[in-house]
Amino acid sequence: MANDKPKNVVLGVSGGIACYKAVELVRLLVKEQYTVQVIMTRGAMQFVTPLTFQTLSARPVATDTFNLTQESEIGHINLADSADIFVVAPATANVIGKIAAGIADDLLSTVLMATQAPVLIAPAMNIHMYENPILQENLRKLRRIGYEILEPDEGYLACGYEGKGRLPDPEAILEQIRLQLKKKDLAGEKLIVTAGPSREPLDPIRYISNRSSGKMGYALARVAARRGAEVVLISGPTALTPPPGVKVTAVNTAAEMRRAILDEYAACTAVIMAAAVADYHPVEFSADKIKRGKGSLDVRLEPNPDILKELGRRKDGKLLIGFAAETGNLDANAEKKLREKNLDMIVANDVTKQGSGFDGDTNIATIIDRRGATHSLPLMSKDELADQIFDHLLTLRR
Ligand code: CTP
Repeated sequence: MANDKPKNVVLGVSGGIACYKAVELVRLLVKEQYTVQVIMTRGAMQFVTPLTFQTLSARPVATDTFNLTQESEIGHINLADSADIFVVAPATANVIGKIAAGIADDLLSTVLMATQAPVLIAPAMNIHMYENPILQENLRKLRRIGYEILEPDEGYLACGYEGKGRLPDPEAILEQIRLQLKKKDLAGEKLIVTAGPSREPLDPIRYISNRSSGKMGYALARVAARRGAEVVLISGPTALTPPPGVKVTAVNTAAEMRRAILDEYAACTAVIMAAAVADYHPVEFSADKIKRGKGSLDVRLEPNPDILKELGRRKDGKLLIGFAAETGNLDANAEKKLREKNLDMIVANDVTKQGSGFDGDTNIATIIDRRGATHSLPLMSKDELADQIFDHLLTLRR
């Protein structure tokens, strides 16, 4: 959120055991420099004390509509107007029922009725309550009105049942909040983002690959979706969780990646090649495991297609963005790739620099574009770098 004015999250907490996750959510929000105003229902106060939320949010917690001190200090209409987003997490069946029926008989439901901010509801309850047709009808009604409903997770429920009804992890709720608050300036873009390494098999057990973790590509996909783009993420093998709202196609080899990209190419507006595609694959694939021999083993490699270069030859009016991971002569090497692959932009980083290597959450990059602009960026998170890359992409659209 670096240079923006801090966004205000009004967080309504209603009475369920998942309240403890709302405590962690407040901590995460504050850490990301959001301001958080917590409203607790009477039920919520049976599970967690207002002091817990007050300490973490560094603001008084609002609990009671008819308390004169609170009303003069916070005020329910002020609360409603101050929200950039109104989140109810956890939302009990009771609170959902009240909101859907237009009942405003406590502070949370009253402020919610008065707010004009986007609303995110995160239901959490027993599986049978969640499946109850009345609750489902209420959720459909709220969706129709434009409220965002965050589906509960499946798993072990505090009531002893297994099934759907768990409040999603605080990280997942935070990601939804980010998604909703982000400017949708990439709406209309249909992006292909590639990520991770490719794996070139030698036999059913071994392969040749590289150290790419996929984190940069996943950050690009996540941030693009937040900013309103339609995203297809074509990913080599990684240990990462796909971002919400993104179509994911899993591939292994460079040839599979090429095929997957070409299948989506006609419909896309831009391709961002963050994947570390292997330049070579073994000439021979042994269907059986290669057994240990006596002497040395020769493996012959032949080149993979340069996917980006092939796209650069076709172009078809798409924006093409490449990456260059280098160990020296950063600008010169990157500019050469920009020209030879006919790219619109290249993002270069020196993998030998601290904070810019493989598998980290940060990067130090230089953006070079086809118009000759060069921007050397400081150390930043991969999400922040993704934002910079899309800001730059939008300048190329003008
Ligand atoms: N790339 C690609 N197909 C390949 C290899 C690379 O599309 N077979 C893309 C990468 O995804 C990246 C860009 O091309 O966006 C540059 O990749 P890099 O490996 O740095 O470039 P190479 O042209 O392979 O040059 P080098 O000799 O430095 O490996």
